[in-house]
Amino acid sequence: MSAPADLTERAGRSAAAIRTRSPGVSPRIGLVLGSGLGGLTDCIEGALRIPYEEIDGFPEPGVEGHAGELVLGELGGVPCVVMRGRAHLYEGHSARLATFPVRVLAELGIQALFLSNAAGAINPDFVPGDLMIIRDHLNLTGTNPLVGPPVSGEPRFPDMTAAWDVELRSILREASNETGVPLQEGVYAALLGPSFETPAEIRMLGKLGADAVGMSTVPELIVARARGIRCFGVSCLTNYAAGLGDAALDHEEVIATTHRVAKSFRDLLTAAVTAADRCLTAAPSG
Ligand code: HPA
Repeated sequence: MSAPADLTERAGRSAAAIRTRSPGVSPRIGLVLGSGLGGLTDCIEGALRIPYEEIDGFPEPGVEGHAGELVLGELGGVPCVVMRGRAHLYEGHSARLATFPVRVLAELGIQALFLSNAAGAINPDFVPGDLMIIRDHLNLTGTNPLVGPPVSGEPRFPDMTAAWDVELRSILREASNETGVPLQEGVYAALLGPSFETPAEIRMLGKLGADAVGMSTVPELIVARARGIRCFGVSCLTNYAAGLGDAALDHEEVIATTHRVAKSFRDLLTAAVTAADRCLTAAPSG
């Protein structure tokens, strides 16, 4: 019986196919743009756009605000590969499939991955429209993308002590000072979704140490760390988490808030990517 193709091999083939469409582009930083944040790709210079359905193994995202294309080009002079839209576990994809694109980005040679998302604000000092550096996370999705046969080139038990890179987090703070875009900092709790949380669940998450809650990001972070890629990320706090504000929660509000902060997000990220690249070039990732 022949073994099924290893995920790393398969990702390598998808990366090779992408490279034939973008000769000369060697992305150093990957970016995943969450709900409503995809407009950032308008700032990519020399953008080559590849719809996800044209890339072998990519799951197709089906949520409003997630376009589903890979964009290669330069942001702030840095060669980048941007995922405009992501697959979520709540769409029914396995965690392994939903995170396959991260393995493709790894095979494309990225050294750092920036992850973004829309999230509900739990910390009482945070308000909708705030951007929050992700300092750490709680994986409450009920699964893990590394479940299954070991994948070549990845440790079986990757360390998550410094999952969110200390140096890249300080670069985000410097980018905040440089651009004047204020940043909060906190712990992101990832839940499966797709229903929003109950007020009791939000009270529980607050007691567990969560500052924000969402339905994505953590599976991608786990795979990236297994590949030795340095990670940093920002949550766009789009609403008060359930029970903390007056209004009922809905996806339209989430998207409307991301559009409101789009310019700040873009300015911050362009500055952060440029500085992160300097740091990666000075000290290659290990
Ligand atoms: N909960 C979960 N996911 C979210 C929220 C929320 O309040 N806002 C945006 N994504």
